[in-house]
Amino acid sequence: MQGLFITFEGIDGAGKSSHIDTLAQALRAAGRQVTLTREPGGTPLAEKLRAMLLHDAMDALTETLLVFAARRDHLRVVIEPALARGDVVLCDRFTDATFAYQGAGRGFDLAVLNQLDLMRNPDLTLWFDVPPEVAAERLAAARTPDRFEAEGVEFFTRVARGYADRAAGATQRFARLDGAQPRAKVAAQML
Ligand code: TYD
Repeated sequence: MQGLFITFEGIDGAGKSSHIDTLAQALRAAGRQVTLTREPGGTPLAEKLRAMLLHDAMDALTETLLVFAARRDHLRVVIEPALARGDVVLCDRFTDATFAYQGAGRGFDLAVLNQLDLMRNPDLTLWFDVPPEVAAERLAAARTPDRFEAEGVEFFTRVARGYADRAAGATQRFARLDGAQPRAKVAAQML
């Protein structure tokens, strides 16, 4: 079997994480080996970088370099070997998140991001699109916010626009799901 690389994207509060397990179960039931992973993170080194990214103060360049360092390790240690085995890799966030959060959200230079983006593209990206106001309501009900979740609606409006721009630039790869629908409907659409 050929490996398949599927990423899950959307602003914080879009609800994507709850759907990853559903898709993993469906794929396993269909006889596929599934590797479930996330970014930033997915390896011991990248998880350490994740903890810094989510909680330590830093500027946009440092943030961007740490995200790509984590991604490089994750690709080499987990994603590439899994794809070579023929697994389906389900990854909670990937490079599109960097363009949306560091690029559109923080205003970091997109040309520099493009230069740093030497990584492979996913085969398919499931984009959970929800209005920032809806996502903000969901987040408010959730746990203690990290550095990103603590940002305001204006930040997430820019991030959402960043995702829309990425989707418009790669229509073959992006599948948009209306994340404001009831969870069961979103899951059905995803499957
Ligand atoms: P998230 O999937 O929201 O984790 P959790 O559901 O456990 O909170 O990811 C953590 C945060 O990292 C999220 O707010 C977006 C941010 N992020 C970036 O800013 N750039 C990136 O390249 C990636 C992968 C994530």
